[in-house]
Amino acid sequence: MAKSNQLVVSAHHAIPRYQQIARQLKQAISDGELVAGSRLPSSRTMALELGVARATVENAYGELVAQGWLERRGQAGTFVSPSATSGANNVANTSSQPQGAPRPFQMGLPALDGFPRALWARMMGRRLRLQTRYDLMLPEANGESTLRQAIADYLRFSRSIDCQPEQVFITAGFQAAMRLVVHTLAKPGDGIWLEDPGYRYVRPVFAEAGMALHPVPVDNEGMQIDYGLGHFPDARFALVTPAHQSPLGVALSLARRHQLLDWAAANQSWVIEDDYDSEFRYHGKPLPPIKSLDGPQRVIYAGTFSKSLFPALRVAWLVVPQQQVEAFSQHTHYLPCTAPLLIQQTIADFLREGHFWRHLKKMRLCYSERRVWLEQALQQQGFDVVPQAGGIQLVMRVSGDDRALVAKAREAGLAVQALSDWRMVSKGEGGILMSFTNLTSMAMALKVAQQLRDAIF
Ligand SMILES: Cc1ncc(COP(=O)(O)O)c(C=O)c1O
Repeated sequence: MAKSNQLVVSAHHAIPRYQQIARQLKQAISDGELVAGSRLPSSRTMALELGVARATVENAYGELVAQGWLERRGQAGTFVSPSATSGANNVANTSSQPQGAPRPFQMGLPALDGFPRALWARMMGRRLRLQTRYDLMLPEANGESTLRQAIADYLRFSRSIDCQPEQVFITAGFQAAMRLVVHTLAKPGDGIWLEDPGYRYVRPVFAEAGMALHPVPVDNEGMQIDYGLGHFPDARFALVTPAHQSPLGVALSLARRHQLLDWAAANQSWVIEDDYDSEFRYHGKPLPPIKSLDGPQRVIYAGTFSKSLFPALRVAWLVVPQQQVEAFSQHTHYLPCTAPLLIQQTIADFLREGHFWRHLKKMRLCYSERRVWLEQALQQQGFDVVPQAGGIQLVMRVSGDDRALVAKAREAGLAVQALSDWRMVSKGEGGILMSFTNLTSMAMALKVAQQLRDAIF
C-alpha cells in the first residue's frame, strides 16, 4: 500500500489542504514514487495520519479520480490508475484528438465550437484601444461597474430578478464567490445543507472554513427540504441548484422553493441559489428563481459565465440582499475581484450590445439537437437515459458498481463520471454522468456511445 507519511499539509498555506494533498500525490505519481496499481490508504487512515478531516482527503482523492490519476475499485479501495504514470491528460486522450481537445463526454464545458471567437477577439481589441490611462489603476474590488449594471439588466429581463448594480459582486469563478459568502456571513461551526448527490467541487470551500456540511438527499422534486428541517433545522445556510439540480438535472418544485424560503426567513438563515446553467432549458416553462420570490431578503444568488460563454473566463457573480451590500463590500477589501478588467469590460460590451442573447439563443438550439443525438445513440446501445428538461449534462442509470464501470470507460479514454462519486452519504441507484455539448454530429454521438458500450460491457 502507498505510504502517506511523506505528505505534508499546512493550515497556513495559501492553497486549500485538499489541493496540497492532491498536488503531492500527483507529484509522487509523476516521479514514479507511486506506481500504477498501488493502493492508497483509506481516506480515514490518511486523514488520521495527516491530522485533517476525512472530507479533505476524500476531496483530494475525488479530484484525482476525476482527472484520471486515481481510480476507485469499490470495496477494494483507491488505486493509482494503470495509465496515470504518463500524466493524467494522456489517460483519456485518444490518439485521434488534437492536444488539449475535450475528451469524449467531458463535463462542465459548453460547446467550444459554438463560441463566436472572431467577434470576441474584435470586441476585446476594441476595448483595449478604448481604454484610457485611468484603466491602469486598480479596478473596483467588487467588479467593473459597467458589468455589474449589465448583469443587473440581464437578470431583470431574463430571470425576473429585481436588483441594483451595487448588489452585484463579480468574482473570479463560482468557488471565489462562495469564498466571499463564507468570509462575509459564516463562522466556524455554522451548518450548511448541501444536496446529496451534489456539486462536489465546492464542498472544500465550506469544509476549509470549519463549517458543518449537512448532506440533504435529493428526489425528483430536488432537495428534500423536509429532511433538512427534520435533521438540521438550525443550519445557517442551504446551497441549492434549483434550476437543474447538479448532477441529477431535476428542478426544485415551487412548493419546496417556498418552503426553503420560509425556513430561511424564520431561522434567519441564508439560501444560496446556484443558478449555474439555468439558461439552458429545452421544454416546459421554467420555474421562477428563488431570488425572484425573495421578499424576506434571505437569498444570495450566484451565476456564472462558465457555461453561457466559456470557462476560461473564470467570471461568476453574486447578487446579495441590499442590507448585506455594505458587509460584502467590506470583505472585498481583502478578497477583491481578481477577474482581469479587460475581460470584465468585454463581457459587459457583449451583454449590452445584444450578443449574449443571440449567443444563448443559438446555443439552446445547438444543445437541444446534440442532447437528442446522444440520447438516441445511447438508447440504441441499450442504455437507460434519465429524461431531463434542461442543463448541459446527461445521467444514465446503471445497475452494479458505477465506479467500476466508469473506471473501465476512463481507461478507454472516455471522460464519464460515476454518480456515486458525487454522493456524500446517500445510497441510491448507480449512474453515469456525461456531457453532450462537444458532440458535433450524430455520427460522433453514435461512435462514442458504441465505444462506451464496448468499454464497460
Ligand atoms: C453546480 C455548479 N455550480 C457552479 C459551477 C460554476 O463554476 P465556475 O464558475 O467556477 O466555473 C459549475 C460548473 O461546472 C457547476 O457545475
